[in-house]
Amino acid sequence: MQFELSEEHKMIQSAAKEFAIELKAGVIDRDEQAKFPTEFVKTMGELGFMGIMVPEQYGGSGMDTLAYVLALEEIAKIDASAAVIMSAHNSLVLYGLNEYGTEEQKQKYLVPLAKGEKLGAFALSEPEAGSDASSQHTTAEDKGDYYLLNGTKNWITNGGNADIYLVIAQTHPELGHKGINVLIVEKGTPGFSIGPKENKLGIRSSDTHSLMFTDVKVPKANRIGDDGFGFKFAMKTLDGGRIGIAAQALGIAAGAYELALAYSKERKTFGKPISNHQAIQFKLADMEVDIEAARLLTYKAAWTKDQGLPYGKAAAMAKLKASEVAMQHTIEAVQIHGGYGYVKEYHVERLMRDAKITQIYEGTSEIQRLVIAREILKD
Ligand code: CAA
Ligand code: FAD
Repeated sequence: MQFELSEEHKMIQSAAKEFAIELKAGVIDRDEQAKFPTEFVKTMGELGFMGIMVPEQYGGSGMDTLAYVLALEEIAKIDASAAVIMSAHNSLVLYGLNEYGTEEQKQKYLVPLAKGEKLGAFALSEPEAGSDASSQHTTAEDKGDYYLLNGTKNWITNGGNADIYLVIAQTHPELGHKGINVLIVEKGTPGFSIGPKENKLGIRSSDTHSLMFTDVKVPKANRIGDDGFGFKFAMKTLDGGRIGIAAQALGIAAGAYELALAYSKERKTFGKPISNHQAIQFKLADMEVDIEAARLLTYKAAWTKDQGLPYGKAAAMAKLKASEVAMQHTIEAVQIHGGYGYVKEYHVERLMRDAKITQIYEGTSEIQRLVIAREILKD
């Protein structure tokens, strides 16, 4: 067993940490204004973060999942919105194109996405299909050499800023989940429109939109995988995505903890730093233990994927634990800051708001438990 990071992993971690210092400057303003960090997304592309796991031959950095997790953790400590933009793009769009795309799809779509020249979005959820992801109402009617796409997708991360969308839709309703397809849809395709930006509790500078499709013609060449592969594609994609969100949640928790720890040594009450009060010490001790547990589960899920082993359960466990820890301990971080924690300048209230979404997207905590329980009981 090896708990030491390699030199390459330490390098990517410190590159992300350095980049996160730049992110910090306007993070409060971007949150308040719900302003998409366009310039920083461009920088993440230049740093190789927007194609971090894609092979170099397709424009990526050719790194492993652990490198991805380390980078996301550092970025999420400072700006959880930037982290989810990077995570949705890498885990939910690039992974599937690289793993299941044709050579033509890779050259046309994966290369510019992995270089950070274009941004991707993944559209599975619908107004009436969130946790119950296979009950797709969006239809992709087979018209010979193209699909006719109709329906609405909800809550799509990068929805307004993306160039390329992976859209899940039902082609053969009589086959249930076996009749679902995944199609590559370009922004600007006639009949494809984007709804207004959602006004959210947290991750406010990432953009979330509904997408509307009215008689959108998508060439057959833009289907990924065989006819009917779309639901399995989505499930396989989400296994990896959940490692990304675990890393985001871990970063949020660790960022709040670092702020609370520093503050507890500075703030004095009753003639001594609050870190000398046992009630505060116990909060810090619990944070340290829980965050380290979340970190170990997250790194282990990444390692499991990198070993080529089945990783769905490990990913669900990491996402469940890290998101619960993020919510619980960002609340404690605000508490340790007292009144100061309730105002924006101290950052912890934002991290607390950002933490909540990690228990909801890419499968709620209840869905993670369902996935884990099914695996436990399978045999
Ligand atoms: N890998 C491969 N195949 C899988 C799989 C996996 N992880 N999970 C399920 N499947 C297969 C099954 O083997 C089955 O195939 P067969 O019929 O050929 O055996 C098929 O898929 C159907 O499986 P289930 O019967 O288990 O499906 P279900 O309807 O009970 O749903 C579920 C399972 C896990 C609850 C699934 O619906 C789910 O993950 N729901 C949550 C949806 C979700 O996470 N959405 C996230 C949207 S993206 C997002 O949120 C992005 C963001 O925020 C940035
Ligand atoms: P529902 O499925 O209606 O669930 C409501 C409640 O019931 C939850 O507490 C849930 O856990 C519980 N529940 C449901 N079924 C069960 C069950 N079987 N057992 C126990 N409890 C259950 N989707 C995308 O496709 N792409 C994106 O990029 C994307 N980004 C998002 C960004 C944001 C900010 C948000 C808010 C959502 C995003 N989503 C995205 C959608 C997200 O994945 C869904 O919101 C999520 O999967 C939950 O679905 P739902 O909102 O329909 O809730």
